[in-house]
Amino acid sequence: MAYVIAQPCVDVKDKACLEECPVDCIYEGERALYIQPDECVDCGACEPVCPVEAIFYEDDVPAEWQAYTQANAEFFTELGSPGGASKLGLIERDHALVAAQPQQTPA
Ligand code: F3S
Ligand code: F3S
Repeated sequence: MAYVIAQPCVDVKDKACLEECPVDCIYEGERALYIQPDECVDCGACEPVCPVEAIFYEDDVPAEWQAYTQANAEFFTELGSPGGASKLGLIERDHALVAAQPQQTPA
């Protein structure tokens, strides 16, 4: 199990979550961030700090955003388990689900 970043992060990318993750497993894509599910230790530290409530425990992802669980995992199909997001920095792509979202302007 892991935590999942869902639709509200798209085009917002507040990044408050990055500061909290003790294992540096939140990776930055072009329009959203993604949690590496094998590296996430389920500590829950990231969830309450997201100002747009984009982060959920896998079991608690709202029905309309269920596909984000798979999208977070699939973002790492090629990357595998890099063992730390900060050394990678911005990864200039997104999962197809995120790439297909209409542009959303932060409120
Ligand atoms: Fe996104 Fe929220 Fe983190 S907007 S970057 S999940 S703090
Ligand atoms: Fe990291 Fe803990 Fe969230 S391991 S991704 S801060 S649940």
